[in-house]
Amino acid sequence: MISFLKAKALKKFALLTMGAMFICFRTSPIIAAEKEPFTPLGAPSCASAACHNQNLGKGIPFSEYTTWTGFDPHHKAYASLFNTRSDRIVKNLYNTGPGSAGATQLCLNCHSSNQGKSEHAGPGFSLTEGVGCESCHGSSSSYISVHFTEKFKKLSAQEKEKDFGLTNTKDLSSRNKMCADCHVGNAKKGMEVNHDLIAAGHPRLNFELSAYSAQYPKHWKMSDDLKRYPDFNAKAWAVGQIQSSKIALQLLEDRTSGLHGVDGNKTPWPEFTEFDCFSCHKDLKLNSKKYQGGYSNKPGSLPWGGWFNGNALKLVLEESKVKAFPAEVSLQMNQFGAQPSKVGQSCKKAIEQLEIAALDLEKSPTWNKSQLLSLAKKLIDSGKTSAEKGSWDEFAQLYLGLAAIHNSWDDLDPQGVPKDFTKELVILGNLLKDVFPKGFDSPSLFEDKFGLNPRNEKSIGTFSSVFRSLQIALESNRR
Ligand code: HEC
Ligand code: HEC
Ligand code: HEC
Ligand code: HEC
Repeated sequence: MISFLKAKALKKFALLTMGAMFICFRTSPIIAAEKEPFTPLGAPSCASAACHNQNLGKGIPFSEYTTWTGFDPHHKAYASLFNTRSDRIVKNLYNTGPGSAGATQLCLNCHSSNQGKSEHAGPGFSLTEGVGCESCHGSSSSYISVHFTEKFKKLSAQEKEKDFGLTNTKDLSSRNKMCADCHVGNAKKGMEVNHDLIAAGHPRLNFELSAYSAQYPKHWKMSDDLKRYPDFNAKAWAVGQIQSSKIALQLLEDRTSGLHGVDGNKTPWPEFTEFDCFSCHKDLKLNSKKYQGGYSNKPGSLPWGGWFNGNALKLVLEESKVKAFPAEVSLQMNQFGAQPSKVGQSCKKAIEQLEIAALDLEKSPTWNKSQLLSLAKKLIDSGKTSAEKGSWDEFAQLYLGLAAIHNSWDDLDPQGVPKDFTKELVILGNLLKDVFPKGFDSPSLFEDKFGLNPRNEKSIGTFSSVFRSLQIALESNRR
């Protein structure tokens, strides 16, 4: 679980004055683009000293290569396949020996560039680069020699992507899509972290664009993101809620169709990661709230998800003109034992709607302070109402939404955020972090000594009091 309330100190991103800018040496004109498939040339092809490897410091333009090699977790994604945790995962899954994850296709699909496939790749391509430049920006065979020309820069993002293979990383919705292949999953491409992997030791994937963007050691300027979206933090969160939910539904649809995974096995159904982890992973206690009439659905059925389709998504969709909440899927999935084919059908419809809603919100005018605060109020109200029955996922998503709004509020009005609001958010973040400790987003390390399972008696007071305090802090600003 990622915490990302930004530190003021980090915010003022010191930009070194750049001296004379080198110009990349290749100046060939734009030629008719090659047809697909675009092929990867490997990170070293981007690393000429005149181009992205000027090594001027972390995050400085033209120093993307050294920012990535020095600070980016993606650069070590392949190396991670050789750590003891990976050894344990593949031992549990396949009973294979240490180091074998590095040769396991399923792992390579997300932990290396081009899904580890080197056929047709350029000589610079190597598995050891991990998740390299081309994993996010697209295979560079067609754009490498032209992407710095003035003529190319004038093309639309769609032309750059379709004709040259340069992924649109600037618009929020398509950026989220790109990250989500690996961070949510794409079963058609064999990229899936299901309950088998999680039970074997893989961290759970609970992506949220705004938090992951804040956490990411960037090789571009945050000010560029803010130029495109002055409300970047909040908008990335909101658009990301919708787009990630769509990708998760796509994954669910694929799971219902019994697709064959890369290891030849059918995707399991029902797939446990679709359901609230804590509904199975919790202590059995007499006199629980649920026995006393606290069920929100049929006793004994598993509550569906929560991460990609809970109240945070509902509230975000209220900001969009498109009514896209996947209510039908929710109804079916909340009756454990739902017909996979019916679920698949409902997913299809919802996916279309969510895509439209994401684009609609992405294009909506920049949110002003009063819009941000009214959205924050809704999130807090939702937290207060569900404090008794809410799941960890629900509170975590509300926290991430509030933190994103907090950060945008600070961008728009740096002196305006009440100190208490920041303080209470930190408390909320800590409550959640202790349940799913960092680096192990999974309840297997959960121990009751934290006393913070959202469902147990002690924590109810804690969560509801935090949401109450947040409300007071927010209102103190609205005199
Ligand atoms: C090709 C797959 C892939 C793509 C695309 C991708 N990631 Fe990742 N990402 C990974 C893997 C694998 C890791 C884990 C690396 C490791 O620790 O070994 C990771 C780790 C991270 C981490 C560190 C997480 C932590 O717990 O410390 C952040 C932050 C992150 N990614 C953000 C992003 C964002 C934002 C995008 C899109 C702009 C993105 N990623 C696109 C595969 C990918
Ligand atoms: C769907 C894409 C995907 C697949 C398939 C996948 N991973 Fe990952 N893996 C990730 C992402 C994304 C992260 C980062 C999660 C985060 O922090 O949010 C990660 C994190 C990890 C980590 C923790 C990072 C660290 O530094 O220790 C390990 C270990 C790991 N993966 C090993 C494996 C192994 C072994 C396999 C194959 C059995 C595998 N992964 C398959 C996407 C994937
Ligand atoms: C995890 C995904 C990811 C990886 C890996 C990655 N990038 Fe990026 N990159 C982005 C995103 C997202 C942006 C911000 C949006 C934008 O400017 O296109 C960006 C921005 C940039 C920019 C600024 C573009 C502009 O128009 O100002 C450059 C240049 C760049 N990346 C080059 C590289 C190079 C070179 C590498 C490898 C050394 C690399 N990137 C690796 C995701 C990634
Ligand atoms: C339908 C019930 C169910 C759901 C929902 C479920 N699990 Fe599990 N999980 C199990 C079972 C059964 C085992 C195997 C337990 C055993 O062998 O002792 C298991 C094992 C595990 C393990 C390894 C064993 C351990 O207890 O440490 C982890 C980690 C885990 N699950 C994490 C998760 C996460 C994270 C989620 C939510 C994304 C989740 N589970 C959702 C039933 C479930």
